[in-house]
Amino acid sequence: MRPNPLRVLLTGAAGRLGQTVLPALRTRHDVRAVDLLPGPGVDEHVDLTTPGTCLRLFDGVQAVVHLAANPDPEADWDALLPANVLASHAVAQAAKDRGVPRLVLASSLQAMSGYPDEHQVRVEDPPRPANLYGATKAWVEALGSWVAATSSTTVVLLRIGNFSPSVPDPVMATPRDVAAWLSLDPPPRFEQRTARAC
Ligand SMILES: NC(=O)c1ccc[n+]([C@@H]2O[C@H](COP(=O)([O-])OP(=O)(O)OC[C@H]3O[C@@H](n4cnc5c(N)ncnc54)[C@H](O)[C@@H]3O)[C@@H](O)[C@H]2O)c1
Repeated sequence: MRPNPLRVLLTGAAGRLGQTVLPALRTRHDVRAVDLLPGPGVDEHVDLTTPGTCLRLFDGVQAVVHLAANPDPEADWDALLPANVLASHAVAQAAKDRGVPRLVLASSLQAMSGYPDEHQVRVEDPPRPANLYGATKAWVEALGSWVAATSSTTVVLLRIGNFSPSVPDPVMATPRDVAAWLSLDPPPRFEQRTARAC
C-alpha cells in the first residue's frame, strides 16, 4: 500500500470488474468492498437502493468507485431500475451530501452505441444510446455531471468497453464488440487506471 492511502469504497466488488479492480485498488488504498452478493474480498453485503445505506457507507470516505449495476445491454426497465437508476442516484446524492472528494462512475460504450459505425465518437459528442441499458449509463453520466457542477466532489467517468476473460465469438460478435474487447491477456490497464482515478 502506498504511503497515506486513501479510504476508498468500492461498490459491485463481487462482480467481474469489481473482482479485477479490487486487488489493484488494495495495493494502493484502504478499500472497503461492498456488494449485494458475496464474493472474495467483499467486506459487507448491502443493497445500495436501501435508504440511508450510501450515506452510512460514505461517511469519512475519500473516494467512491461505483461499479454496481446490471451490465446487460438487453435488460428491460424492471431489471435496470434498481441498480442502474435508483442506486446510481443514491450514490450520487450521498457523495454530494457527504462531501466525498472523488467519485468514480462506471459508464459504458453502450451510452454511445446509437452512432453509426463510421462515426468516430469524440468525448464532446452527446450520449446516443441504442438500448435502454445505454440510456441508464447516459443517466449515470448525467448524474456525474450534476455532482461535479453542484458540489466539491470531483468526478471521473469511465466509459468501459466489452470486458470479458475470453475472446468474443468471431461468429456471434459484431465488429464493434471485437473492437471494444478489453482483454485480460496481456493484463488490461483498466484496473490500474481505476486505482489511479481515486
Ligand atoms: N462487463 C462489461 O463488459 C462492462 C462494459 C461496460 C460497462 N460496464 C459497467 O461496469 C460495471 C461493472 O460491470 P460488471 O461486468 O462487473 O457487472 P457484474 O454484474 O459482474 O457486477 C455488478 C455487481 O453489482 C452488484 N449489484 C447490483 N445491484 C446492486 C445493488 N442494488 N446493491 C449493491 N450491489 C449491487 C451485483 O451483485 C454484481 O456483483 C457496471 O456498472 C457495468 O454497467 C461493464
